[in-house]
Amino acid sequence: MNEKVVAITGASNGMGLEAAKLFANKGWKVFAGARRVEKIPRDADRIVALHLDVTNTDSNHAFVTHILKEAGHIDVLINNAGYGEYGPAEEISMTKIRNQFETNFFGAVELTQLVLPTMRAQNYGRIVNISSIGGDVYMPLGAYYHATKAALQQWSDVLDLEVAQFGIRSVCVQPGGTQSSWGTIALKNSHSNMRENSAYQPLVDTVSAGLDRFMQRSVKASDLAEVFYKAATELKPSLRYLHAFGDKFMVNVARRHPKIFRKAIIIAMRYFEKQNTSK
Ligand SMILES: NC(=O)c1ccc[n+]([C@@H]2O[C@H](COP(=O)([O-])OP(=O)(O)OC[C@H]3O[C@@H](n4cnc5c(N)ncnc54)[C@H](OP(=O)(O)O)[C@@H]3O)[C@@H](O)[C@H]2O)c1
Repeated sequence: MNEKVVAITGASNGMGLEAAKLFANKGWKVFAGARRVEKIPRDADRIVALHLDVTNTDSNHAFVTHILKEAGHIDVLINNAGYGEYGPAEEISMTKIRNQFETNFFGAVELTQLVLPTMRAQNYGRIVNISSIGGDVYMPLGAYYHATKAALQQWSDVLDLEVAQFGIRSVCVQPGGTQSSWGTIALKNSHSNMRENSAYQPLVDTVSAGLDRFMQRSVKASDLAEVFYKAATELKPSLRYLHAFGDKFMVNVARRHPKIFRKAIIIAMRYFEKQNTSK
């Protein structure tokens, strides 16, 4: 039980990939999962790359079974796999909405259920759920993304109350804009999820401009990997981990002053709309 073991989902890119490298450098045994397993760095001693599709029950079972067979225990599960199924709430297909929840929420739920019996037997474990500032703040076109992250946070808090008695803690990291594929995927989805002759075209153009600008101020994925590490290892963990001052500020306003936050979003949208029309 000496070697510390972490399982990280969505480790083929962005924050998950940086976290896998960071934990490995710090001497942990890392079980790193993603669909594009070939993108996960191979390191015979420290990183085990495993194929994982968190929307698939068999794949989740195979992932956890492999870890427990090879390592015999698991200290930390980082539920990081996720993406933004952006687009008008009215027009995104139910199939895509369900897939958004399967990936960002139910995948995390299933993997957590699979590791908890082992963590209880060990009397130790940490579940680190990668939410988003978007678990509290919101913007147009992100309805289902924000809903998955808000769900993840509520679920994590309930779980934490239930499992703390076994020495297990469940916590959330809430990244803000971070360099990765996330922004490109969300922007692409905003457009492809629109129906033909959509009444939402002007809104999609405006929000795309805003999202693009927001993502330009992104921090490095490796900075967030450090936050993941803190959330995984701090002796007395917080329930929420936020990185940049601006992220903490926005989340605070959204939580404490919902009407002011809504007004701020409307003002920001007007600003991007004006910028778009003056181009
Ligand atoms: N970047 C941001 O600005 C930002 C801000 C707040 C929160 N977040 C959250 O942070 C987490 C990491 O995102 P990122 O920014 O690092 O984005 P990214 O570069 O797009 O990485 C996402 C990772 O999730 C994996 N993934 C997606 N669907 C999966 C599935 N069905 N099964 C297994 N893995 C899957 C991808 O791997 P494969 O495609 O190879 O499977 C990839 O490794 C996400 O939960 C995201 O919502 C991101």
